[in-house]
Amino acid sequence: MLTIDYANCLSSRVGPHGLDPDRLADGGELAKAAAAMTAKLNASRGKGWERWRELHRDPMRAEHVQAVNDAAAKVRAHFKGEPENLVVLGIGGSALGNIALQAALNPATHNLLPSGQRSGPRIFVIDNVDPAYFASVMDFCKTNGGWDKTLFNVISKSGETAETASQFMIVRDILNDALGKNAKHHVVAVTDPAKGTMRQICDFEGYTTMPVPDGVGGRFSVLSPVGLFSAAMTGIDINALLDGAAEMDQRCTKPELGKNPAAMLAALLVELGTRNGKINHVMMPYANNLYLLADWFRQLWAESLGKRVDNTGAVVNTGFTPIKALGTTDQHSQVQLYREGPNDKVLGLLDVTELSEDPANIPSGLGVETLTYLEGSSLAALLAAEKRATEYALVESQRPNFTITFPRVDAHHVGEFIYLWEMVTAYAGLMLNIDAYDQPAVELGKQATFGLMGRKGYSEFKSKVDEGLAETGYRM
Ligand code: PA5
Repeated sequence: MLTIDYANCLSSRVGPHGLDPDRLADGGELAKAAAAMTAKLNASRGKGWERWRELHRDPMRAEHVQAVNDAAAKVRAHFKGEPENLVVLGIGGSALGNIALQAALNPATHNLLPSGQRSGPRIFVIDNVDPAYFASVMDFCKTNGGWDKTLFNVISKSGETAETASQFMIVRDILNDALGKNAKHHVVAVTDPAKGTMRQICDFEGYTTMPVPDGVGGRFSVLSPVGLFSAAMTGIDINALLDGAAEMDQRCTKPELGKNPAAMLAALLVELGTRNGKINHVMMPYANNLYLLADWFRQLWAESLGKRVDNTGAVVNTGFTPIKALGTTDQHSQVQLYREGPNDKVLGLLDVTELSEDPANIPSGLGVETLTYLEGSSLAALLAAEKRATEYALVESQRPNFTITFPRVDAHHVGEFIYLWEMVTAYAGLMLNIDAYDQPAVELGKQATFGLMGRKGYSEFKSKVDEGLAETGYRM
């Protein structure tokens, strides 16, 4: 079970930069508010945009696990084993979870290992339209396994996302040219089960598909086939992920603030953010494999909570800037700022009790007196000491911080972590009285792109862009 230590967010540790513990204690104002919000969330679960809370429960869970296993079996039957390469095409909520799961649960060297030594295919998640990046992955696949050993997993709920659609159009052409009628076996799509452009394409082409259910937005979709298919193909235990989410779900339905980690983290972050000026929220894992979970968190926190208006229509321009950092690496890059710069941050440190590999102890025998303190110790001990030392140094500068501890980095605990932050986001949305599930500000850029790329019906946006960004001469 993940544990959360929030003592360093309290005024008893960080003075006026922390919260009064009485407000969080039983009967305290924040505890009462949390109980009311929990009742509200328990009542709304599974409805509207809260269907993501059902992903780890039957019937949705069973349906998705079945769909993923069937699709994987079909792929393996066609490829007569594992494909050599799995290329995921998607962006935002249709990519960040996949990337985070791979980084957390497969070795950093996964793609470098020979096929007998890695679980499933090499995996590439192309979440950008940088042509050089795209071409480099495509060239690699073409020459390492070739198209007949490469599977594409296109993920788009809408099917209209310009980045994913354009990548898909290129890939479809390549596969059709190279593989003819077999091309359809090399694309597995995750999209809306009933509507949308991608759905139509899949039905027409005869691709195997899996659903992104209604009411599950992109950034809340990692525990649906969006994240589960590529995870299952690369040996990640998807049932353990979902079990972890289910375990965290139990904790997050408890009315007592002191027993509900999501309500507690939301209370700390929103209160410190809105009343104490801590508007930047840093997630700093002390484990490389957790670093990209911080990237997944960035989207969840930014897109869900960064809103112009609240639910009454009042302009609030609320939200917190999520920042990712890595311990110990960023102790040598960012901690100077975190300790002596503006006191406008809360740091969430992630640590791991049982690091999976701790090679041989640091040997003795070098004979350099200033380094003898390291002899006989281990990298894990050094990492833990550095984390504790940094925590202490942050407290000394009255910088609020908390620690989430993973007993181990495995699928179960990663599932817990994912569900925890989705729930923290739901609580934070309630506390801020905003819609955590929309992203209206993303639209204008999309429409302007359509206009600039000549999409029918969007020419007015091209004119507006040209006018708004007209040359002024302020250029050097
Ligand atoms: O969180 C979100 O809703 C977005 O990041 C989407 O996932 C992203 O824009 C991709 O959308 P789609 O899956 O429709 O291609």
